[in-house]
Amino acid sequence: MKALVLSGGAGTRLRPITHTSAKQLVPVANKPVLFYGLEAIAAAGITEVGIVVGETAAEIEEAVGDGSKFGLEVTYIPQERPLGLAHAVLIARDFLADDDFVMYLGDNFVVGGINSLVDAFRVSRPDAQILLTHVPDPRSFGVAELDPAGQVIGLEEKPEHPKSDLALVGVYLFTPAIHEAVRAIRPSWRGELEITHALQHLIDSRADVRSTVIEGYWKDTGNVGDMLEVNRTVLESMERRIDGEVDDRSETVGRIVVEEGARIVNSRIVGPVAIGSGTVISDSYVGPYTSVAENCRITDSELEFSIVLRDSSIDGVGRIESSLIGRHVEVTPAAGVPSAHRLVLGDHSKVQIRS
Ligand code: DAU
Repeated sequence: MKALVLSGGAGTRLRPITHTSAKQLVPVANKPVLFYGLEAIAAAGITEVGIVVGETAAEIEEAVGDGSKFGLEVTYIPQERPLGLAHAVLIARDFLADDDFVMYLGDNFVVGGINSLVDAFRVSRPDAQILLTHVPDPRSFGVAELDPAGQVIGLEEKPEHPKSDLALVGVYLFTPAIHEAVRAIRPSWRGELEITHALQHLIDSRADVRSTVIEGYWKDTGNVGDMLEVNRTVLESMERRIDGEVDDRSETVGRIVVEEGARIVNSRIVGPVAIGSGTVISDSYVGPYTSVAENCRITDSELEFSIVLRDSSIDGVGRIESSLIGRHVEVTPAAGVPSAHRLVLGDHSKVQIRS
Protein backbone atom coordinates (compact mmCIF):
# COMPACT_ATOMS: atom_id res chain seq x y z
CA MET A 1 0.00 0.00 0.00
CA LYS A 2 1.20 3.54 -0.83
CA ALA A 3 0.25 7.04 0.31
CA LEU A 4 -0.49 10.12 -1.76
CA VAL A 5 -0.17 13.31 0.28
CA LEU A 6 -1.58 16.50 -1.20
CA SER A 7 0.51 19.54 -0.37
CA GLY A 8 0.02 21.54 -3.52
CA GLY A 9 -2.23 24.50 -4.03
CA ALA A 10 -1.32 28.14 -4.21
CA GLY A 11 0.79 29.88 -1.57
CA THR A 12 -2.02 31.79 0.07
CA ARG A 13 -1.85 34.10 3.02
CA LEU A 14 -2.37 32.09 6.12
CA ARG A 15 -5.40 33.53 7.77
CA PRO A 16 -5.17 34.82 10.42
CA ILE A 17 -1.39 34.89 10.31
CA THR A 18 -0.28 37.31 7.67
CA HIS A 19 2.64 35.88 5.83
CA THR A 20 2.90 33.87 2.68
CA SER A 21 3.41 30.21 3.23
CA ALA A 22 2.22 26.70 2.52
CA LYS A 23 -0.90 26.08 4.59
CA GLN A 24 0.31 22.52 5.24
CA LEU A 25 3.10 24.02 7.36
CA VAL A 26 0.83 25.73 9.93
CA PRO A 27 2.28 24.65 13.28
CA VAL A 28 0.30 22.66 15.82
CA ALA A 29 2.20 22.34 19.14
CA ASN A 30 5.29 23.69 17.35
CA LYS A 31 5.13 21.10 14.53
CA PRO A 32 3.76 21.58 11.00
CA VAL A 33 0.33 20.03 10.52
CA LEU A 34 1.70 18.08 7.52
CA PHE A 35 4.18 16.25 9.79
CA TYR A 36 1.35 14.72 11.84
CA GLY A 37 -0.09 13.30 8.62
CA LEU A 38 3.29 11.87 7.56
CA GLU A 39 3.78 10.36 11.03
CA ALA A 40 0.30 8.81 10.90
CA ILE A 41 1.13 7.27 7.50
CA ALA A 42 4.42 5.85 8.81
CA ALA A 43 2.67 4.52 11.93
CA ALA A 44 0.18 2.70 9.69
CA GLY A 45 3.09 0.77 8.17
CA ILE A 46 3.21 2.62 4.83
CA THR A 47 6.64 3.70 3.56
CA GLU A 48 6.23 4.74 -0.08
CA VAL A 49 4.77 8.23 -0.15
CA GLY A 50 4.14 10.53 -3.11
CA ILE A 51 3.79 14.20 -2.14
CA VAL A 52 1.96 16.39 -4.64
CA VAL A 53 3.48 19.88 -4.59
CA GLY A 54 2.60 23.16 -6.30
CA GLU A 55 3.68 26.78 -5.95
CA THR A 56 5.12 26.20 -2.47
CA ALA A 57 7.17 23.13 -3.50
CA ALA A 58 10.47 24.57 -2.22
CA GLU A 59 9.09 25.21 1.26
CA ILE A 60 7.54 21.73 1.49
CA GLU A 61 10.66 19.99 0.19
CA GLU A 62 12.85 21.90 2.61
CA ALA A 63 10.66 20.86 5.54
CA VAL A 64 10.17 17.17 4.61
CA GLY A 65 13.40 16.35 2.74
CA ASP A 66 13.66 12.78 1.48
CA GLY A 67 11.25 11.62 4.20
CA SER A 68 13.86 9.55 6.04
CA LYS A 69 13.31 11.42 9.32
CA PHE A 70 9.77 9.98 9.27
CA GLY A 71 10.94 6.54 8.11
CA LEU A 72 9.40 7.23 4.68
CA GLU A 73 10.62 7.22 1.09
CA VAL A 74 9.22 10.36 -0.45
CA THR A 75 8.72 11.02 -4.18
CA TYR A 76 7.70 14.58 -5.09
CA ILE A 77 5.03 14.91 -7.76
CA PRO A 78 4.86 18.45 -9.18
CA GLN A 79 1.40 19.73 -10.11
CA GLU A 80 1.60 22.72 -12.43
CA ARG A 81 -1.63 24.27 -11.06
CA PRO A 82 -4.14 23.30 -8.35
CA LEU A 83 -6.56 21.63 -10.74
CA GLY A 84 -8.29 19.54 -8.11
CA LEU A 85 -7.85 16.56 -5.81
CA ALA A 86 -8.84 14.11 -8.55
CA HIS A 87 -6.31 15.80 -10.86
CA ALA A 88 -3.64 15.03 -8.26
CA VAL A 89 -4.61 11.33 -8.51
CA LEU A 90 -4.43 11.55 -12.33
CA ILE A 91 -0.89 12.92 -12.36
CA ALA A 92 0.25 10.42 -9.71
CA ARG A 93 -0.79 7.45 -11.86
CA ASP A 94 2.78 6.26 -12.57
CA PHE A 95 3.82 6.58 -8.93
CA LEU A 96 0.71 4.76 -7.69
CA ALA A 97 0.87 1.99 -10.31
CA ASP A 98 -1.71 -0.67 -9.42
CA ASP A 99 -1.36 -0.41 -5.66
CA ASP A 100 -4.02 0.44 -3.11
CA PHE A 101 -3.33 3.81 -1.51
CA VAL A 102 -4.37 6.26 1.17
CA MET A 103 -4.87 9.82 -0.05
CA TYR A 104 -4.14 12.31 2.72
CA LEU A 105 -4.78 16.05 2.42
CA GLY A 106 -1.73 17.77 3.89
CA ASP A 107 -3.73 20.51 5.65
CA ASN A 108 -5.96 18.07 7.57
CA PHE A 109 -5.41 16.91 11.14
CA VAL A 110 -6.93 13.64 12.32
CA VAL A 111 -6.60 13.04 16.06
CA GLY A 112 -5.55 9.46 16.83
CA GLY A 113 -3.98 8.60 13.47
CA ILE A 114 -5.19 6.19 10.78
CA ASN A 115 -3.88 2.78 11.90
CA SER A 116 -7.21 1.09 12.54
CA LEU A 117 -8.68 2.52 9.37
CA VAL A 118 -5.82 1.27 7.20
CA ASP A 119 -5.85 -2.15 8.91
CA ALA A 120 -9.59 -2.55 8.31
CA PHE A 121 -9.20 -1.49 4.66
CA ARG A 122 -6.39 -3.99 4.09
CA VAL A 123 -8.68 -6.77 5.28
CA SER A 124 -11.98 -5.85 3.60
CA ARG A 125 -10.75 -3.91 0.50
CA PRO A 126 -13.93 -2.08 -0.56
CA ASP A 127 -13.40 -0.05 -3.77
CA ALA A 128 -13.11 3.10 -1.66
CA GLN A 129 -13.38 4.07 1.99
CA ILE A 130 -14.08 7.61 3.14
CA LEU A 131 -14.01 9.32 6.53
CA LEU A 132 -16.78 11.62 7.69
CA THR A 133 -17.20 13.92 10.67
CA HIS A 134 -20.03 16.04 12.03
CA VAL A 135 -19.34 19.77 11.50
CA PRO A 136 -21.38 22.83 12.50
CA ASP A 137 -21.29 24.38 8.99
CA PRO A 138 -20.83 21.78 6.24
CA ARG A 139 -21.03 24.27 3.35
CA SER A 140 -17.24 24.57 3.00
CA PHE A 141 -16.73 20.78 2.76
CA GLY A 142 -17.68 17.80 0.68
CA VAL A 143 -20.92 16.54 2.26
CA ALA A 144 -22.22 12.95 2.39
CA GLU A 145 -25.77 11.70 2.40
CA LEU A 146 -26.26 8.31 4.03
CA ASP A 147 -29.24 5.95 3.86
CA PRO A 148 -30.75 4.69 7.15
CA ALA A 149 -28.36 1.70 7.05
CA GLY A 150 -25.38 4.09 6.97
CA GLN A 151 -24.53 3.42 3.30
CA VAL A 152 -23.27 6.45 1.31
CA ILE A 153 -25.87 7.31 -1.33
CA GLY A 154 -24.72 10.74 -2.44
CA LEU A 155 -21.83 13.19 -2.15
CA GLU A 156 -21.82 16.88 -2.94
CA GLU A 157 -18.92 19.35 -2.98
CA LYS A 158 -19.53 22.52 -0.95
CA PRO A 159 -23.32 22.48 -1.32
CA GLU A 160 -25.31 25.61 -0.57
CA HIS A 161 -28.03 23.45 1.01
CA PRO A 162 -26.22 20.48 2.62
CA LYS A 163 -28.22 17.27 2.96
CA SER A 164 -26.47 16.37 6.23
CA ASP A 165 -23.86 17.72 8.64
CA LEU A 166 -21.40 14.98 7.69
CA ALA A 167 -18.31 16.48 6.08
CA LEU A 168 -15.73 14.54 4.11
CA VAL A 169 -12.48 14.41 6.06
CA GLY A 170 -9.32 14.65 3.95
CA VAL A 171 -8.28 11.00 4.30
CA TYR A 172 -9.48 8.57 1.63
CA LEU A 173 -8.59 4.93 0.98
CA PHE A 174 -8.64 3.72 -2.59
CA THR A 175 -8.13 0.62 -4.68
CA PRO A 176 -7.04 1.13 -8.31
CA ALA A 177 -10.78 1.40 -9.16
CA ILE A 178 -10.41 5.16 -8.55
CA HIS A 179 -8.25 5.63 -11.68
CA GLU A 180 -11.09 4.93 -14.07
CA ALA A 181 -13.33 7.28 -12.04
CA VAL A 182 -10.90 10.23 -12.09
CA ARG A 183 -10.62 9.85 -15.87
CA ALA A 184 -14.41 9.79 -16.29
CA ILE A 185 -15.29 13.08 -14.59
CA ARG A 186 -15.31 16.69 -15.87
CA PRO A 187 -14.14 19.85 -14.04
CA SER A 188 -16.64 21.38 -11.57
CA TRP A 189 -17.97 24.96 -11.59
CA ARG A 190 -14.76 25.99 -9.78
CA GLY A 191 -12.67 24.47 -12.56
CA GLU A 192 -11.37 21.58 -10.46
CA LEU A 193 -11.51 17.84 -10.95
CA GLU A 194 -13.25 17.00 -7.66
CA ILE A 195 -12.47 13.75 -5.84
CA THR A 196 -16.05 14.02 -4.53
CA HIS A 197 -17.31 13.64 -8.13
CA ALA A 198 -15.00 10.67 -8.73
CA LEU A 199 -16.45 9.04 -5.59
CA GLN A 200 -19.98 9.80 -6.79
CA HIS A 201 -19.04 8.18 -10.11
CA LEU A 202 -17.99 5.04 -8.21
CA ILE A 203 -21.27 5.04 -6.25
CA ASP A 204 -23.27 5.46 -9.48
CA SER A 205 -21.36 2.51 -11.00
CA ARG A 206 -22.46 0.40 -7.99
CA ALA A 207 -18.94 0.19 -6.59
CA ASP A 208 -18.52 -0.50 -2.88
CA VAL A 209 -17.89 2.88 -1.20
CA ARG A 210 -17.87 2.67 2.58
CA SER A 211 -17.72 5.36 5.22
CA THR A 212 -16.61 5.70 8.82
CA VAL A 213 -17.63 8.59 11.06
CA ILE A 214 -14.82 9.94 13.26
CA GLU A 215 -14.41 12.48 16.06
CA GLY A 216 -11.36 14.66 16.53
CA TYR A 217 -10.81 16.37 13.21
CA TRP A 218 -9.39 19.79 12.33
CA LYS A 219 -8.31 21.78 9.31
CA ASP A 220 -7.01 25.30 9.17
CA THR A 221 -9.97 27.55 8.49
CA GLY A 222 -8.42 30.75 9.71
CA ASN A 223 -10.33 30.50 12.97
CA VAL A 224 -8.07 31.32 15.94
CA GLY A 225 -10.37 29.60 18.44
CA ASP A 226 -10.17 26.30 16.51
CA MET A 227 -6.41 26.61 16.16
CA LEU A 228 -5.97 27.17 19.91
CA GLU A 229 -8.23 24.17 20.58
CA VAL A 230 -6.30 21.76 18.34
CA ASN A 231 -3.08 23.03 19.87
CA ARG A 232 -4.54 22.27 23.31
CA THR A 233 -5.58 18.73 22.29
CA VAL A 234 -2.10 17.90 20.99
CA LEU A 235 -0.28 19.43 23.97
CA GLU A 236 -2.46 17.39 26.33
CA SER A 237 -1.17 14.13 24.88
CA MET A 238 2.55 15.02 25.08
CA GLU A 239 5.01 13.40 27.46
CA ARG A 240 7.19 15.61 29.66
CA ARG A 241 10.67 16.11 28.16
CA ILE A 242 13.20 18.72 29.16
CA ASP A 243 16.19 18.81 26.81
CA GLY A 244 16.88 22.52 27.24
CA GLU A 245 18.17 24.37 30.34
CA VAL A 246 16.03 25.22 33.34
CA ASP A 247 17.82 27.27 36.00
CA ASP A 248 17.33 26.62 39.70
CA ARG A 249 15.20 29.73 40.21
CA SER A 250 12.60 28.33 37.81
CA GLU A 251 9.73 25.93 38.45
CA THR A 252 8.25 23.57 35.85
CA VAL A 253 5.00 21.74 36.54
CA GLY A 254 3.31 18.97 34.52
CA ARG A 255 3.58 18.07 30.84
CA ILE A 256 6.25 20.33 29.46
CA VAL A 257 8.49 19.98 26.44
CA VAL A 258 11.56 22.21 26.46
CA GLU A 259 13.58 21.60 23.32
CA GLU A 260 17.36 21.51 23.30
CA GLY A 261 18.82 25.00 23.12
CA ALA A 262 15.86 26.60 24.90
CA ARG A 263 16.41 28.31 28.29
CA ILE A 264 14.06 28.92 31.19
CA VAL A 265 15.36 31.56 33.57
CA ASN A 266 13.68 32.63 36.82
CA SER A 267 10.26 31.63 35.45
CA ARG A 268 7.29 29.42 36.26
CA ILE A 269 6.00 27.07 33.53
CA VAL A 270 2.77 25.18 34.14
CA GLY A 271 2.02 22.55 31.49
CA PRO A 272 0.90 21.45 29.06
CA VAL A 273 3.39 23.76 27.38
CA ALA A 274 5.84 23.35 24.47
CA ILE A 275 8.91 25.57 24.17
CA GLY A 276 10.90 25.50 20.92
CA SER A 277 14.69 25.42 20.56
CA GLY A 278 16.57 28.69 20.92
CA THR A 279 13.71 30.29 22.87
CA VAL A 280 14.47 32.08 26.13
CA ILE A 281 11.78 32.55 28.79
CA SER A 282 12.93 34.84 31.59
CA ASP A 283 11.20 36.40 34.61
CA SER A 284 7.88 35.16 33.21
CA TYR A 285 4.95 32.82 33.72
CA VAL A 286 3.85 30.49 30.89
CA GLY A 287 0.60 28.71 31.66
CA PRO A 288 -1.38 25.74 30.29
CA TYR A 289 -2.02 25.07 26.57
CA THR A 290 0.70 27.34 25.25
CA SER A 291 3.16 26.70 22.43
CA VAL A 292 6.11 28.99 21.95
CA ALA A 293 8.04 28.17 18.77
CA GLU A 294 11.77 28.51 18.08
CA ASN A 295 13.95 31.53 18.79
CA CYS A 296 11.43 33.57 20.75
CA ARG A 297 12.05 35.81 23.78
CA ILE A 298 9.42 35.96 26.52
CA THR A 299 10.59 38.41 29.16
CA ASP A 300 8.86 39.79 32.23
CA SER A 301 5.42 38.73 30.94
CA GLU A 302 2.61 36.19 31.48
CA LEU A 303 1.31 33.98 28.71
CA GLU A 304 -1.47 31.39 28.77
CA PHE A 305 -3.59 29.38 26.25
CA SER A 306 -1.70 30.92 23.34
CA ILE A 307 0.46 30.18 20.31
CA VAL A 308 3.59 32.18 19.54
CA LEU A 309 5.30 31.48 16.23
CA ARG A 310 9.03 31.67 15.72
CA ASP A 311 11.37 34.63 16.11
CA SER A 312 8.92 36.73 18.13
CA SER A 313 9.43 38.61 21.37
CA ILE A 314 7.12 39.62 24.19
CA ASP A 315 8.68 41.90 26.76
CA GLY A 316 7.23 43.53 29.86
CA VAL A 317 3.57 43.60 28.85
CA GLY A 318 1.73 41.88 31.68
CA ARG A 319 -0.67 39.05 30.86
CA ILE A 320 -1.56 37.69 27.40
CA GLU A 321 -4.26 35.01 26.99
CA SER A 322 -6.08 33.20 24.14
CA SER A 323 -3.78 34.78 21.56
CA LEU A 324 -2.10 33.81 18.33
CA ILE A 325 1.10 35.71 17.66
CA GLY A 326 2.78 35.35 14.26
CA ARG A 327 6.44 35.22 13.24
CA HIS A 328 8.92 38.05 13.90
CA VAL A 329 6.41 39.92 16.06
CA GLU A 330 7.51 42.30 18.81
CA VAL A 331 5.21 43.08 21.72
CA THR A 332 6.59 45.74 24.09
CA PRO A 333 5.22 48.46 26.39
CA ALA A 334 4.59 51.86 24.77
CA ALA A 335 7.41 53.89 26.30
CA GLY A 336 6.86 57.59 26.90
CA VAL A 337 3.24 57.68 25.79
CA PRO A 338 1.12 57.36 28.94
CA SER A 339 -2.24 55.64 28.46
CA ALA A 340 -1.90 55.19 24.72
CA HIS A 341 -1.57 52.00 22.70
CA ARG A 342 0.86 52.02 19.78
CA LEU A 343 0.16 49.35 17.19
CA VAL A 344 1.72 48.22 13.93
CA LEU A 345 -0.58 45.42 12.78
CA GLY A 346 -0.57 43.39 9.59
CA ASP A 347 -3.59 42.90 7.35
CA HIS A 348 -6.53 41.04 8.93
CA SER A 349 -5.07 41.45 12.44
CA LYS A 350 -7.39 41.36 15.43
CA VAL A 351 -6.45 43.08 18.68
CA GLN A 352 -8.43 43.12 21.91
CA ILE A 353 -7.10 45.68 24.36
CA ARG A 354 -8.17 45.95 28.00
CA SER A 355 -9.68 49.42 28.16
O1 DAU B 1 -10.40 19.22 4.01
C1 DAU B 1 -11.48 18.41 3.64
C2 DAU B 1 -12.07 18.90 2.33
O2 DAU B 1 -10.99 18.93 1.37
C3 DAU B 1 -13.21 17.98 1.82
O3 DAU B 1 -14.32 18.07 2.69
C4 DAU B 1 -13.63 18.37 0.41
O4 DAU B 1 -14.59 17.48 -0.09
C5 DAU B 1 -12.42 18.37 -0.52
O5 DAU B 1 -12.77 18.81 -1.82
C6 DAU B 1 -11.34 19.30 0.04
O6 DAU B 1 -11.85 20.63 0.01
P1 DAU B 1 -10.99 21.97 -0.01
O7 DAU B 1 -11.55 22.91 -1.01
O8 DAU B 1 -10.93 22.47 1.40
O9 DAU B 1 -9.55 21.51 -0.47
P2 DAU B 1 -8.27 22.41 -0.64
O10 DAU B 1 -8.33 23.18 -1.90
O11 DAU B 1 -8.03 23.15 0.65
O12 DAU B 1 -7.15 21.31 -0.81
C7 DAU B 1 -6.91 20.32 0.16
C8 DAU B 1 -5.43 19.95 0.15
O13 DAU B 1 -5.01 19.45 -1.13
C9 DAU B 1 -4.48 21.09 0.47
O14 DAU B 1 -3.41 20.56 1.24
C10 DAU B 1 -3.99 21.55 -0.89
C11 DAU B 1 -3.99 20.27 -1.68
N1 DAU B 1 -4.28 20.42 -3.12
C12 DAU B 1 -5.47 20.98 -3.50
C13 DAU B 1 -5.81 21.08 -4.84
C14 DAU B 1 -7.13 21.69 -5.26
C15 DAU B 1 -3.40 19.93 -4.07
O15 DAU B 1 -2.31 19.42 -3.71
N2 DAU B 1 -3.71 20.06 -5.40
C16 DAU B 1 -4.89 20.60 -5.83
O16 DAU B 1 -5.12 20.68 -7.05
